This record gives sequence, C-alpha cells and structure tokens, in this order.
Amino acid sequence: MTTKKAILKIGKSKTAHELSVYSGTEGPDAIDVTALYNESGCFTYDPGFMSTASCDSTITYIDGEKGILRYRGYDIAELAKKSNFMEVCYLLLHGELPNKKEYGLFVSEVKKYSLVHEQLQFLYRGFPRFSHPMAIMSGAFASLSAFYHDSLDIRNKEQRKLAALRMIAKTPTLAAMAYKYSIGRPFIYPRNDLDYTANFLHMLFASPSEEYVVNKVLAKAMDTIFILHADHEQNASTSTVRLAGSSGANPFACISAGIASLWGPAHGGANEAVINMLEKIGDIKNIPNFIKKAKDKNDPFRLMGFGHRVYKNYDPRASVLRDTCHSVLKELGMQNNTLLKIAVTLEEIALTDTYFIERKLYPNVDFYSGIIYKAMGIPSNLFTVLFAIARTIGWVAQWKEMIEDPKQKIGRPRQLYTGYKLRKYVPVAKRK
Ligand code: SDX
Repeated sequence: MTTKKAILKIGKSKTAHELSVYSGTEGPDAIDVTALYNESGCFTYDPGFMSTASCDSTITYIDGEKGILRYRGYDIAELAKKSNFMEVCYLLLHGELPNKKEYGLFVSEVKKYSLVHEQLQFLYRGFPRFSHPMAIMSGAFASLSAFYHDSLDIRNKEQRKLAALRMIAKTPTLAAMAYKYSIGRPFIYPRNDLDYTANFLHMLFASPSEEYVVNKVLAKAMDTIFILHADHEQNASTSTVRLAGSSGANPFACISAGIASLWGPAHGGANEAVINMLEKIGDIKNIPNFIKKAKDKNDPFRLMGFGHRVYKNYDPRASVLRDTCHSVLKELGMQNNTLLKIAVTLEEIALTDTYFIERKLYPNVDFYSGIIYKAMGIPSNLFTVLFAIARTIGWVAQWKEMIEDPKQKIGRPRQLYTGYKLRKYVPVAKRK
C-alpha cells in the first residue's frame, strides 16, 4: 500500500499529528488512525461507519459512484453471464479462477459434505412449525459447531479448509430442511448427482412419493442469483462475521452471527420486505401514494429495495436481476405478472422524482429478486434464507482472509461517552 501523509491539528494545540495515508489498488485512500488515540487522546467518531475502512481486503471491489462490483477483479456482470456459482465460490475462497482439475476437485469436495448429521433433524423438531426460517437457520448453523469438533481450530489450516467446505456444502441442506419443516413435509436428502443449485431446488421442491425433475432454466436463474449475492465487501453481515471471528469464535458461530445480521429489513431482509411492499401497493394506481409516504419524513415507510449505503448509482446486480426476472417469468408463462408490472412502474416513477434523484436512490439487489423467487413458488419468508445461502461463501472467504491476516487483532471499537459524570448512590428510601 503506497503511503502519503496527512497532518491533523486539534483545537488550539500546536501539535501536528502526522498520519499515514494508504492507497489501495483501486478506490478511496485510507487515513491510518491506529495510533491517533495514543498520540492525541482523541478517538475518531463515525457511527454507521460512513467513512471508515475496517480492514484491507483483496476479495471484492465496489465503486458506488460508477455502480461497479468485482469479485477478485472480475466484473459481476461477466461472472453472472459466463461463470457458475461453484466456480465463483472457488474464486472468492482462493483468489483465482480454478483450472479444470481444481474445479472438479472442489465440486466433489463440496458434494462430500452436503449431508448434515442425522441428529440435527431433532433440533428442527424443537422449533414451532410456524418459526421464521431465518430463526431456524441461525440456530441450526450455530449448532454445527456441536457436531463438527474436528473443524473448530481456527489456527489449523486443514481445519479451516474443512470448516469452509462444510459451511458451503451444508447451507443449502439446512435451508431446504427449514422450508420442508415449516410446511410439514419430509426432509429431502441432497443428491450428489445434481450440481449445487439444482440439488438445492431438488431438496426444496422434491417429494419422496414422486420423481421431481429440476427445471434447467430456473436452476440457471437461481445459480445466477447466487453469484450476484455471493459477496459485497464489508456490509453489515460480513462486518458482523469479521468482528465475531476476531475474538477467535469458531467459524460456525461466526457465520450464524452473519445470518442474524442479514435478517434485518435494512439489509438482507429487504427482499422479503419488497414483496410485502409490492403486494401492499397492489395496483399501479396506488404507487403515487406510496412514493409520497416514502418521501414523508414523518412516515417510517421507506421504498424497500431502493437506496444503498455504497451504490449512488444503479446497483449492477439489480440490472442483471431485472433481466433474469424477465427470463424466469417468460419460462413460467407469467409475463403479465402484476408484481413485476408494479415494480417496473415504481422504478420508472421513482427514478424521475427529484427526492430519489437528489439522494441518489436506485433499485438495489433486493428489488427484483423477490419477484423471481415468488414466481418460482418460494414463500417470501424464505427469501432472506436464499440470500444467506449465497452469502455464506462471501462470509467464509472474508472470515478466512481475516484469520490469515498477520495484522489480525480482536475488534474492539470505543465510544464518545455522553452519559452521567460520577454521582453518589442514593438508597431507595431516599429516592423520589
Ligand atoms: C443490502 O451494504 C451492503 O452492501 C448491503 C447489500 C449486500 O449485498 O450485502 O448490498 C445488501 O442490504 C441492500 C440494501 C437493502 N435495504 C433496503 O432496500 C431497505 C431500504 N433502503 C434503506 O433502508 C437505505 O437506503 C439503506 C439502509 C439501504 C441505506 O441507508 P443509509 O446509507 O444509511 O442512507 P440513509 O438512511 O442515511 O438515507 C439517506 C437519505 C435519507 O433522507 P434525508 O434524511 O437525507 O432526507 O435517503 C433517504 C433517507 O430517508 N432514503 C430513503 C430510502 N433510503 C434512503 N427514502 C426512502 N426510501 C428509501 N429506501
């Protein structure tokens, strides 16, 4: 990282604090404030991390102004068009596209771990049938650390590799089990003769009583969706995984923490919230009223699937998803899908409205994905689970990068204290 210098003077002090300024291979420079507190007695202040780089990383690059997203230097639109999710998993984990032999070995290793321990079904049976699948997923994923004691030592390279393969392989199985359990249908075992995404759709929709043939167009669409959702640099859930991992917690517990963070409607829970919003709008004629609500500061309603902390341009993933949406609906003979019509009209109106233009609010990754899932017959409470399946590789790759970073320390932010100064204890008899 090339360095420049920044000089900081605080208040009337004549002391000039010299700070190193690092330049990455792309994107904004970063001012190193590591020593600032020791030198100046001051913290930096950045709630929500609007201007904070929490680490250096070689995995994913985003340019929010230009709407650029690249995994290990490869553009997301090119990967979505030419690659597949297993190849992207290898790329994110190892940093390079695999050759034919490496790819074949990786796919067979992932398949080897697609089953979960038979005892795990009894954890599921302890949940109420009406449980939200994300509640089951975060619990079931954390429980993997109870079963796989031979892949918990994060300082052991082989155990890290085994944990990574298990997490990538078992997430779709856990997800499909959460769905089957919620509808009272029998669990379907993974089939290793199918590829990763087709196997997931098979576990989701197959039944023991009849043969189920995976629709190739839908499997390709889901594989593309998984690629688009695989990683996104230091978003809330990835930062959660990194912070949990910085304490040395086992990998299964860290990824479970990421699942919990992803569930929020401001983050991965937005895809479910988008569908609920579109269904609430119900008809194109109601759109102006919802746009008005979204702009009203006194109304908590926001246009779900719109806006992004980093993208101040069209989210490149949303562009690919919009095209995927049209191909899936065509395949299913649903070109006149009402929700799609409302979404497309909502997007058109919002993108000509000064409120959204001034704030650079564009459709994000969650705006179209829910329409595709719903057309495939997937219930809306499973949408964020699908996001978690795809994002598991991003979380694992980022966790691995952090653990293998020689600079790695436990993450421990400080605060600007605005509470009471010292005060004496008052016995309850003397309190008002
Ligand atoms: C994901 O970080 C990632 O990379 C996440 C993600 C990933 O791949 O990991 O990309 C996945 O989480 C996508 C985002 C999904 N969330 C939603 O679609 C929920 C709706 N969007 C908003 O909640 C919001 O846009 C956020 C949370 C996404 C971003 O919020 P910020 O960056 O904190 O922006 P902000 O809240 O400060 O908003 C700035 C202004 C405010 O208005 P003013 O106070 O300036 O007048 O824009 C307004 C906001 O009120 N605004 C919106 C809006 N989003 C922002 N107004 C109406 N509708 C919206 N959706």
